[in-house]
Amino acid sequence: MHGVIISNLQKYVVEKLGEPAWDGLREKAGLLGKAFIPISMYPDSDLDALIAAAVETTGQDREAILQDFGAWVIPPLMKMYRSFIPEDWDAATFLENVEERIHERVVRMKDDAARPPHINVTQVSPGILEVEYQSHRDMGALALGCVYGVADFYGEKATLIEQKKGPGTHRTYSVRLSAGTGIRRRQEAV
Ligand code: HEM
Repeated sequence: MHGVIISNLQKYVVEKLGEPAWDGLREKAGLLGKAFIPISMYPDSDLDALIAAAVETTGQDREAILQDFGAWVIPPLMKMYRSFIPEDWDAATFLENVEERIHERVVRMKDDAARPPHINVTQVSPGILEVEYQSHRDMGALALGCVYGVADFYGEKATLIEQKKGPGTHRTYSVRLSAGTGIRRRQEAV
């Protein structure tokens, strides 16, 4: 797993629970003292162990933590990769292009070891998106959180209409995008 994700998980935990909580999670995960930097790759088991430790510490379920982190991580990712994201995109356009323009062109092509999920997004009718998640990992809830984060980033609101499971870790989420606060966080983040 790319260090950009784990180092943001660290920032998320510190922001939500404070610095000592991060040390606590690393200890529980058997990773005490291990540093995570954005330009390195780490075993997937590190992220899995940190999430399991977060479940144990907070009592929240894994899906809820992944979803909340997914929404949280979008603004910092948008900021880091802003030069690859056209100014005139909205939430639907971003999501429809995330597979080819971000996960493929920016992540897979630049880093051979990265294995981001396949996120295929289709606008099935105006404002209704079908978001398909396929990965060797089991982090569909993180993808759903990212969808919420992208909508919020563009001042829109995503509402889950339906989710389908399988096969394996494959998930399909149907979401409705609608006008939200109207405040585009893009301006704040860049
Ligand atoms: C600027 C936007 C984004 C950037 C720069 C980005 C980048 C990345 C990177 C670097 C990874 C780690 C891959 C690896 O180490 O194998 C990753 C994983 C992931 N991304 Fe994205 N991503 C973005 C947006 C999104 C969106 C919009 C979604 C979902 C709709 C999404 C879903 C995921 C998920 C679920 C993972 C976890 C790994 C897995 O399940 O296999 N990402 N992303």
